[in-house]
Parts: sequence; structure tokens; C-alpha cells
Amino acid sequence: MTRHSEHVGMNRTGIQMSPVDSKAMQEMDPSMAGIDDGDESALAEMRNDYIANADSLGSIPLPGTLKGAVSMTVQALKGDSPQILLDKLGERLAFERTGTRLYDALITKCEVMLDGDISMTIDDLEHIRADEARHFMLISDAIESLGGDPTSQTPSADLAGVESMGLVQVLNDPRTSIAQSLHAIMTAELSDKAGWETLVALADEHDLTDMVDEFTNALNQEREHLALVQTWYEEAIGLTYGDVELDGGDIDSQQESISAE
Ligand SMILES: [Fe+2]
Repeated sequence: MTRHSEHVGMNRTGIQMSPVDSKAMQEMDPSMAGIDDGDESALAEMRNDYIANADSLGSIPLPGTLKGAVSMTVQALKGDSPQILLDKLGERLAFERTGTRLYDALITKCEVMLDGDISMTIDDLEHIRADEARHFMLISDAIESLGGDPTSQTPSADLAGVESMGLVQVLNDPRTSIAQSLHAIMTAELSDKAGWETLVALADEHDLTDMVDEFTNALNQEREHLALVQTWYEEAIGLTYGDVELDGGDIDSQQESISAE
């Protein structure tokens, strides 16, 4: 069964659906509608007040073990900022956890909806899901090795959780198609890739060579995920692999083949 959410139907959200009313609305004197010239300074002023008086998004916890507290102090004395690394490890931990759940939701969706239109298989998705779960464990071990507590919610973990809320909603919505779900997962994979790049750089800055190696492996897997998801997404919206070559040298020949059609 193929279900296309992108079908043409009775969508009445645009003003073209009601030419008479929309013309009248656009001709209305803005003062009558209580709208001035779009000045949002009063709103900005109120927000400024909130921003100036707001607390921050929580704090990075002090290591709960003696070993952790000592190593954090030693690093801080060397001029490093171990708390930044712990905060960012917390962020990746939160995101990889969400990542596994996003793939779980996509697998469930595919069990009902997947047909032979795209090259993606449920086995592929299980494979990526296992990578995300393994990355979660890798980060958890890294936090513990630094004396941190993987169960604590760091400020960046909180941030990543809020950022990915929309993605979880998209995947869990029974109405979204596989293409729409892949679009959300592509957003997650883009963020994943950037997040691991930051972690590799941070681990390198702290001379944690083992972590640099392990994190680079994870980064390479994330790059592969992104490439796969992007390909599947493009297949799902009807592009074929050859259509999406972005190599600059091919643009001319692509244009030629388009105009020749
Ligand atoms: Fe990933």
C-alpha cells in the first residue's frame, strides 16, 4: 500500500482560494484592524526585559566522584575548560538517544508503508539505529572516563532535547509519509555530523587521543548515515541518483540534457 501525503486536494489555506475576501482584506485601512505599520518595538522591549532577567539553561554538574573532581581541577588549572567538553558530551548523549528513537519510529512506519519505490530497506534502518545506540554507549563511557555522570542533564543536552522535539513529533505523527519522515531524519543527521565534528575538535584540544580516534570513527559513520538518508529522501520525492549530482563540472551537461528533453 502506498500512501502519498503529497496529493493534490482541497487545501484552502492560501488567499487565492477566496479572491474577493482577500482583496477586501488587503484594501482594509490598517488602523481599522488595529495594525500599525508593523512596528514590533513594544514586543522587543518586553522580550529585552525577560532576556536581561532570565536564568541560564541550568548548569554543568561538578563531577560526583573524587577522581572526577580531581581531574576536572587539574585540567582547569592547565587552562582547559573540561566543563565545555562535558557539556557537549551531554549534548551528543541526548541527541543519540533521540536518534535511536527517531529510527525506531521510522522502522515502525516502514513496516506499514514501505514499498519498492526507494532503495532503503528496514535492514538498513536497523543498521543505522544500531550505530546510534552504539554512539550513545560510546559517549556514556567517555563521560564516565572523565569522572562525569552520564545521567545528568547538561545545559546543551537540554538545548538538544528541545531542538529535536519537532523531529520526534514528525516521526510519530501517523499521517507523515516516508519522504516527510526522511526529511526530518535528514535534519537530525546534519546536526549529528556537525555535533561529532565539534566533539572530535574538543577531544583533540584536551589531548584525549583515544577519544579523538573513537569519535572520528563515529563521525565517519554519521557522514555515511547522512549520505544514505539524503539519497533515500531524494528517491522518495522522485529524484533519481543521477539527477542530484552537485559536482560543478556537471552542471552544463545536466542543463543540456534537461533542455534536450
Ligand atoms: Fe546518525
